[in-house]
Amino acid sequence: MNKNKQCSLLSGINNPNFQIYIMGTLSRLQVYMGRRKVLLPVAMVLSAMSALAGMLPYIFIWLIVKALFTVGEADASGVIRTYAWWAVGTAVGGIFLYFLALMSSHLAAFRVEANLRREAMRRIIRMPLGFFDGNTNGRIRKIIDDNASITHTFLAHQLPDLAATVLMPLFTIGLILAFDWRLGLVCLIPVVVSMVLMQTMMTGKSRAFMQDYMTSLEEMNTEAVEYVRGIPVVKVFQQTIFSFKNFHKSIMNYKKMVSMHTGLWEKPMSAYSVIINAFVFLIAPVAILLIEYSGDYASVLLNFFLYVLLTPVFSICIMRSMYLSQALGQASEAIDRFDRLTSYEGLQVDSSPQSVNAYGITFDKVVFRYPGATQNAIDGLSFSIPAGKTVALVGASGSGKTTIARLVPRFWDTTEGRVMLGGVDVRRIAPEELMNKVSFVFQNTRLFKTSLLENIRYGNPEATPEEVERVVDQAQCRDIINKQPAGLNTLLGTEGTYLSGGEQQRIVLARAILKNAPVVVLDEATAFADPENEHLIHQALKELTKDKTVMMIAHRLTSITDADLILVIEKGKIAEQGTHDELLEKKGIYLTMWNEYQQSIAWTIRKEAKHA
Ligand SMILES: Nc1ncnc2c1ncn2[C@@H]1O[C@H](COP(=O)(O)OP(=O)(O)OP(=O)(O)O)[C@@H](O)[C@H]1O
Ligand SMILES: [Mg+2]
Repeated sequence: MNKNKQCSLLSGINNPNFQIYIMGTLSRLQVYMGRRKVLLPVAMVLSAMSALAGMLPYIFIWLIVKALFTVGEADASGVIRTYAWWAVGTAVGGIFLYFLALMSSHLAAFRVEANLRREAMRRIIRMPLGFFDGNTNGRIRKIIDDNASITHTFLAHQLPDLAATVLMPLFTIGLILAFDWRLGLVCLIPVVVSMVLMQTMMTGKSRAFMQDYMTSLEEMNTEAVEYVRGIPVVKVFQQTIFSFKNFHKSIMNYKKMVSMHTGLWEKPMSAYSVIINAFVFLIAPVAILLIEYSGDYASVLLNFFLYVLLTPVFSICIMRSMYLSQALGQASEAIDRFDRLTSYEGLQVDSSPQSVNAYGITFDKVVFRYPGATQNAIDGLSFSIPAGKTVALVGASGSGKTTIARLVPRFWDTTEGRVMLGGVDVRRIAPEELMNKVSFVFQNTRLFKTSLLENIRYGNPEATPEEVERVVDQAQCRDIINKQPAGLNTLLGTEGTYLSGGEQQRIVLARAILKNAPVVVLDEATAFADPENEHLIHQALKELTKDKTVMMIAHRLTSITDADLILVIEKGKIAEQGTHDELLEKKGIYLTMWNEYQQSIAWTIRKEAKHA
């Protein structure tokens, strides 16, 4: 919430800031309403009519009492019966109108909720793929779900009350001044005093509260999700207390926020409740004085009775306006949060994209810095991979290999310099075409919770059953399929089959082979696999990379010895380059890495032999 939009929770609906604020929030929400926009004013009018109709029974009851006092006993029962029917009728009418109001507001609110979700998905689909690094799918879902449902509650339930909350006190003031202005003024004293008191005590104090409150709520929710997700790791490492720390901290933070806020309200709220309910103590002596003064015992008592019935309306309205402004604050903050999540700049799409016909990759003085980072992850990198050749990237952890690989399919755009495919800057290629031309297999590539067939066909939805069968063999997946009860139609994931890491990799490779893109980017495709799986994965990789332009990252150096070019990356720069043999001869970083790698293999073999 920015400062001029903020309003204290109690500043009330007559505050001009509040009016600007509510109009601003409403116009932002209206965008998502489409043609159902008209339903909101309809709901507000119906709700106002319902509120007024709801007050009529009080007047009829007062008229009944009046009839009892003034009309002769013989006539009284007929008049009373008429008034009683009117009281019942207006009460039922009020309820019916409110029902219609809620129906209209719900129709509008559901549309907003649905459109917000749709719009979120539309924007998120256009995000650079790197966006999903910093925003886990749990967090994205939570922000969209929570904020969509907050706007629903506000529009469907609280907003219809707005008109009633404005009209009811005005109507009541009119009534109480019309019957006996002296008693009326006395009734208004505690109302005015309590409102002024609240306003002066609260204004300013609760500013920015809503933002802090929702931030801490969001943190707590995210931490809860992270905690539950991490439970298997926590159990393995026996780290109960430690892992609980962040979640615990977020709960305590939330508790502190809420306690502080409740504390802030304690005194004003108590004073407010006492004063607003004290009107009876004020009007009773005034009524006694009036009786003495006018001598009209019956009519003063009658009016007194009406005021006791009507004055609590103010209290109800003030409470409602409090909830309303609170809900408004939340709704406005919800749209802010939603916008913040999705305002991330989507990929710029060239208005006259160029198509590519050649598939060499060129990095031209590429600099890349992650959003918010202080150092460049890639720092002036230039190299070329001729079409059909394989380049391998090696280097220490954090040297920038994954980042380089991800710049090719535009997970991110470069900060400086160009990445080119077939001589065309990747930013000038239509995103769909780029995605069609590049296959990328990352270690954490996911399988969908659907059938094996669908998972593979994702690479090319138009593939024929024969083509799918062929890639199943090429990706060495035959044994996986044969093991499954329903073959290719076996469902994966929840309620379905689970595959090992290596098996999943092979299915992912089958998908990539089916896609048959001319450029292949591979990041640590064999990292999770056991030796048997590793061998099969290698076979699958051979099929995938045949005649393709390949950029591969492999921690197992044996798998890249026949690469056309090996780049040794250090701090986002090329430290050494050449073929495997050339690099060994240079006796530099690569030789050290190679020796260490040989030692680790020897160590693994010795260990396995010992256990055999
Ligand atoms: N999403 C991100 N946001 C900010 N910084 C990042 C992000 N991903 C990576 N980095 C940083 O960029 C640098 C390069 O990381 P990168 O993942 O490319 O290294 P890597 O060579 O692939 O390492 P590894 O061998 O461990 O996979 C590191 O300093 C890392 O902390
Ligand atoms: Mg990496």
